[in-house]
Amino acid sequence: MSRSAHPAGPRHADVLTEGHYSAPPADLNALDPKVWAQTVERDEHGVLAVGGIDVKRLAEEFGTPAYVLDEDDFRARARAWRTAFGDDADVFYAGKAFLSRAVVRWLHEEGLNLDVCSGGELATALSAGMPAERIAFHGNNKSPGEIRRAVEAGVGRIVLDSFQEIVRVAHIAQELGTRQRVQIRITVGVEAHTHEFIATAHEDQKFGIPLAGGQAAEAVRRALKLDGLELIGIHSHIGSQIFDMSGFEVAAHRVVGLLKEVRDEHGVELPEIDLGGGLGIAYTSDDDPREPYEIAKSLTEIVTRECEAARLRTPRISVEPGRAIVGPTAFTLYEVGTVKPLDGLRTYVSVDGGMSDNIRTALYDAEYSVSLVSRSSDAEPVLCRVVGKHCESGDIVVKDAFLPGDLAPGDLLAVPATGAYCRSMASNYNHVLRPPVVAVRDGEARVIVRRETEEDLLRLDVG
Ligand code: LLP
Repeated sequence: MSRSAHPAGPRHADVLTEGHYSAPPADLNALDPKVWAQTVERDEHGVLAVGGIDVKRLAEEFGTPAYVLDEDDFRARARAWRTAFGDDADVFYAGKAFLSRAVVRWLHEEGLNLDVCSGGELATALSAGMPAERIAFHGNNKSPGEIRRAVEAGVGRIVLDSFQEIVRVAHIAQELGTRQRVQIRITVGVEAHTHEFIATAHEDQKFGIPLAGGQAAEAVRRALKLDGLELIGIHSHIGSQIFDMSGFEVAAHRVVGLLKEVRDEHGVELPEIDLGGGLGIAYTSDDDPREPYEIAKSLTEIVTRECEAARLRTPRISVEPGRAIVGPTAFTLYEVGTVKPLDGLRTYVSVDGGMSDNIRTALYDAEYSVSLVSRSSDAEPVLCRVVGKHCESGDIVVKDAFLPGDLAPGDLLAVPATGAYCRSMASNYNHVLRPPVVAVRDGEARVIVRRETEEDLLRLDVG
């Protein structure tokens, strides 16, 4: 299945069984603060507002579908991560979750660094004024052109992903007369998704250099010999949408084991380790994410303990949360187009977007919540499936959801927790236009990524 072929993706379907929503929630109008952005509330008519602006006004002014992002919430979450890790660690926001120039400026202002994984993300970061030394450049197949741009720009670190890339980056840095700071990404034999982790599997994928068979130690040996490289540390990323910290514990243990080997063989104590991203968020009320301070405490303790046991100086830790910062800060606002009750089965509710603005349900069987947000309703709950407008039956936004039985065309629905990996994975399938991202704060709304137009589509099609 597709989700099994995507090692970094969450596997909600493995955890949440069919018929997950077996009973309707007690109150369909209630908003679970776990899944909604911080400033979201309903007025006395049940109209949802965020950042002090109600969704009817947002729909009127910006159209639907639209991603609506709570800027205060984004900044608060970024700050919470920054504060939790303190001055002895670095937080790199993973731009792949969602990146725009406004986001880059917010991160800069809140004191975060940025992880980019393509030339496009690098260009966005630089064009919005993120200092190059605060950028980490990732990717399993960076092109020579991308590497050159990153080295020329002076990025703070390039995370090396293969033996070939060690040589490639060293050559380019030497050609440019510089020494590039690098980390080596290793695979520690841990795979973590949601509530589970497997500690002996997951070498069979494309990222990093395996610890197994001494390959990571060999990579360090080679990197230390090359004049174009300054090896500053080891990187590990074990998966996504993780709630269980024990996967990080095993990963940290193995990374520190490598640091010890390096010290014993080369007399060098590498000063940094990066434990990647992957911390989970609540998509439904069943998910229980951890707070940044708990995560920081837990990771710092694990690394400190492991280093003390190995008699190593504790390295500077960095982390790369993407989803945990941006995911909960946005919801997708849709308008209901058709409502189709299928006798004895469920009601199909079609909205004006779909798999082009949220591929995660189709790709990973991801679970989402959904609420009627343009009014409250006392109607009986009805089991629904929220689907899009695309020409395929897998075009599902929310698989199982209870919505009020009086739902009608023109009503507005909102799907919370769509800030991460929705706009960034959006497509033009069926020539559907990608929605805008509207940032709201203190009663003001502004477009930070505009809606695509038919002219945009036709501009690329050169005829
Ligand atoms: N660092 C590295 C090296 C990564 O590969 C990733 C995610 C992150 C950090 C950020 O992970 P986060 O904290 O956002 O979970 N499209 C999938 C997720 C793929 C993540 C790939 N790498 C999804 O929609 O769930």
